[in-house]
Amino acid sequence: MGKCPDCGEWNSLVEQVVENSAPDLHRPAPPIEDAAPVPLREIQLDTTARWNTGLSEFDRVLGGGIVPGSAVLLGGDPGIGKSTLLLQVGHALASAGRSVVYVTSEESLGQTRMRATRLRADQSDVVVMAQANLDVIMNQVRKRNPDVVIVDSIQMVYRPDLPSAPGSATQLRDAGTRLVWLAKQMGFALLLVGHVTKEGAIAGPKILEHVVDCVAYFEGDRYQTHRIVRAVKNRYGSTEELGIFEMTDAGLQPVRDPATLFLDGAAPRRQPGSAILAAAEGTRVLLVEVQALCVQSVFGAAKRKTTGVDAARVAMILAVVEKHARVVLGDQDVFVNIVGGVRVAEPAADLAIALAVVGAMQRRALPAGCAIFGELGLGGEVRAVSQSRQRIAEAQRVGLTRIVLPARTALDSGSESSLVRCGHLGEAIAQLRDL
Ligand code: TYD
Ligand code: MG
Repeated sequence: MGKCPDCGEWNSLVEQVVENSAPDLHRPAPPIEDAAPVPLREIQLDTTARWNTGLSEFDRVLGGGIVPGSAVLLGGDPGIGKSTLLLQVGHALASAGRSVVYVTSEESLGQTRMRATRLRADQSDVVVMAQANLDVIMNQVRKRNPDVVIVDSIQMVYRPDLPSAPGSATQLRDAGTRLVWLAKQMGFALLLVGHVTKEGAIAGPKILEHVVDCVAYFEGDRYQTHRIVRAVKNRYGSTEELGIFEMTDAGLQPVRDPATLFLDGAAPRRQPGSAILAAAEGTRVLLVEVQALCVQSVFGAAKRKTTGVDAARVAMILAVVEKHARVVLGDQDVFVNIVGGVRVAEPAADLAIALAVVGAMQRRALPAGCAIFGELGLGGEVRAVSQSRQRIAEAQRVGLTRIVLPARTALDSGSESSLVRCGHLGEAIAQLRDL
């Protein structure tokens, strides 16, 4: 600034360097002689077994269990089950002989004990600490040298000597980074809870995503009895895996056969605007219902609303439908919904969404027992997708006998009679009409 905003004087401002009083946020430098590069093949692989968390679905999300020395961030809306999940995990690990410290920074010891009673874990060896001061937490962790440290939640943990308020981005970054370094230094597994927040005084868990090894989020809403946990980052496994749980009166239980969890029974009602998508989530196929509703829009600009799918992707699909299936949507409000609170991000959902919208517009239900998958190109062509064989097998297993799929899907064997192969959106609509 050339001009002082206070007195209006020009060139009166003088630059001053303020000593950074914030403590060093950088990792302590290793001794110089240790810093030499090593040939790749000589790096010792630490093949320590992973620890089972006692919940098969959570192990799946983590890529087969917790890796000692790793840092995991578990995010989600308030009340969705983060504390429940981690207390169960802590209890299971403690029962398997690991020493577990559970730091609750936002609840009292009594509240944690009450939750443990519900989870039938009140006789657990988990060591609980109601503490939000980072220095105290780190001191205790150093003293106890545990195998596992759970911090619920990291957002309430603060350093009193930092000027910013607890819950701010600075505090969150500082507390998260320090705990992760301590975990790497001492070799304990660190599990952090982060609340997903709307814009506001409390910083969201996104800030910590690059600091930790694995990030998993609870998906969907808490009005369903099932809960979905998805890994969005994982240095020790795939990121596409979903963990599916049911919230019971004794905590979260893994859902054994989730393929049809999101359908109302194996043969859903035939209804215009409904289509069953064979979605591949990680290594698993889920059959989910896509619903579309089109209504004449009242005002000039037509609305497009989506739940469970990307709105931009749906806008593209609607354009393809309009252009290549000759269905006029310009004056329609279009709503697209994935039933059951699951999010589908893969392009393989395109064809099912398009057919649901066309069905809704033409008030025509799809033939009974149809499962659909395929990606749409801008030219209306139906493109092949991955994991076709698993999608077909899973759909047939649950009693869906007609599979609508991309024409160019390569399959080595199987009953072609049940397959409806389509190369183009128009072809798919025509073939289904004739069935
Ligand atoms: P909680 O784990 O406290 O959510 P978060 O830590 O993500 O804020 O609990 C979520 C909800 O689950 C709460 O409304 C109570 C319910 N619940 C059960 O239904 N069964 C149980 O056994 C427990 C412990 C909680
Ligand atoms: Mg909680």
